[in-house]
Amino acid sequence: MSDTVLATRGLGMSFGGLRVFAGIDFALARGERHAVIGPNGAGKSTFVAIVTGLLRPTAGAVLLDGHDVTRSSAGERVAAGIVRTFQINTLFPSLTPLESVVLALCQRDKQARPSLRALRRCTAQIDEAADLLERFGLADDAQLPTQELAYGQQRLLEVVLAYALRPRVLLLDEPAAGLSTTQGHALFERLAQLTEGTTLLFIEHDMNIVFRYAQRVTVLAGGSLLAQGTPDEIRAHAGVRKAYLGN
Ligand SMILES: Nc1ncnc2c1ncn2[C@@H]1O[C@H](COP(=O)(O)OP(=O)(O)OP(=O)(O)O)[C@@H](O)[C@H]1O
Ligand SMILES: [Mg+2]
Repeated sequence: MSDTVLATRGLGMSFGGLRVFAGIDFALARGERHAVIGPNGAGKSTFVAIVTGLLRPTAGAVLLDGHDVTRSSAGERVAAGIVRTFQINTLFPSLTPLESVVLALCQRDKQARPSLRALRRCTAQIDEAADLLERFGLADDAQLPTQELAYGQQRLLEVVLAYALRPRVLLLDEPAAGLSTTQGHALFERLAQLTEGTTLLFIEHDMNIVFRYAQRVTVLAGGSLLAQGTPDEIRAHAGVRKAYLGN
């Protein structure tokens, strides 16, 4: 029996007259690192928005561990363990990374949302936050206002904030967007090491990163799920080469 954490059945989405995709049957296995690829406008971000509850699909269902969550709110899905980062930076610029992570941990631990002044009393969360920031290479930046961090460190902080919630499924929409190729590889190298065992779904355009770090790949193109398989299977897939890889 395959151990599927997240699945979609017959998922379809249209914005008015624009049909983005239809009939998407997707399956994410527990513990795998899975990439979603496809040309600009293929619907990758839309797919993640539907899975996380920010958008309602126009057809089909989203299943988490076999339970239909299609009608659950985004907040209910976070509580159920579906957590995401965005293609664009969404951090609080004036908070420090330490403050941001402690706030996320207090939310995870269902503490009443503390005021910034009260944060210093959350000693268990402060220790855990410091440890997380250390592991992700952000210890030196932990006490600076987030807006003063290098952009690459800010992208990493977004991943830490999502990962801190101990998600069942962690979805990353282009976590390396805006980074150089070298920085992007460094971010994925760290991610692969530190989130080992976490079920990870990421959107990424750099095929070198995709084929190196994903264990399985889903291709969205032309309004449907064109292929799903291992990097080797996707590289060899004639339809994918034609529609997307350009050879
Ligand atoms: N809220 C919206 N209202 C109307 N159309 C939308 C909306 N969101 C996305 N679209 C359209 O849906 C299509 C899919 O967009 P989406 O952002 O999901 O693509 P993507 O695969 O993430 O692209 P990219 O690689 O550029 O990030 C595009 O044609 C886009 O213009
Ligand atoms: Mg997108």
